[in-house]
Amino acid sequence: MTSDVMVVDHAVSAQDLHLDFGPTRALRGATIELRRGEVLALMGASGSGKSTLLHCLAGILRPDAGQVRVLGQELGTMTERQRSALRLARMGFVLQGGELIPELTLAENVALPLQLTGTPHREAAGRAAAMLDAVGLGGAGDRRTGAVSGGEAQRAAVARALVHEPEIVFADEPTGALDTVNGEQVLELLLTSARARGASVLLVTHDHRVAAHADRLQVMRDGTVVGEVEP
Ligand SMILES: Nc1ncnc2c1ncn2[C@@H]1O[C@H](COP(=O)(O)OP(=O)(O)OP(=O)(O)O)[C@@H](O)[C@H]1O
Ligand SMILES: [Mg+2]
Repeated sequence: MTSDVMVVDHAVSAQDLHLDFGPTRALRGATIELRRGEVLALMGASGSGKSTLLHCLAGILRPDAGQVRVLGQELGTMTERQRSALRLARMGFVLQGGELIPELTLAENVALPLQLTGTPHREAAGRAAAMLDAVGLGGAGDRRTGAVSGGEAQRAAVARALVHEPEIVFADEPTGALDTVNGEQVLELLLTSARARGASVLLVTHDHRVAAHADRLQVMRDGTVVGEVEP
């Protein structure tokens, strides 16, 4: 079988994205693809557009121009409601600092993605407890998030990102707030769990040691993806 155009169904593919914030040209023709089941690291100087690109790929920001395809769907043709439903059900997020809700317990935070997608309370609580167990926080589910260490919060954030078995995980400096030892542990957890589930991971980082865990590494400069280097 031959064809002129080979259509590959990537987890995410984006072509020629442009996005301005007022006078700041944050994205200037960024093109990237995240293959199914891979861990792709994205590096680049501060301000090069990594977070902006990640937010466009996740449908949180809408580019001024260019196309984003996620799991076979064109984000530009979807309504905001459809995009947030896609995000909730099929994407997981780990952000710098964890972004957990401090008033909730760890277990309540981890159960959130399940509850938001209508999983019955008992099932959500059971799966959250199992996931906390898997990240080494078994027994800590009742603790208030405001009263745990940075490493514990970040492990809970990994649990929350994975609890609903998303096909894509977006991680923006997931270990940025942690020391080397805790950072390594959190990263290991995130990547091992994601790989075991066959999820695709986009891993934004400043740290070459973090990027070394990826299958591929792309570099951004001045709003474009300038190329692939060895992780
Ligand atoms: N909401 C916003 N409003 C205005 N400018 C923004 C906004 N978000 C990002 N920018 C600007 O867009 C450019 C790209 O920012 P972005 O956050 O994507 O960079 P980054 O590569 O993630 O940097 P860092 O490594 O510091 O996180 C920067 O010049 C930034 O100041
Ligand atoms: Mg950033």
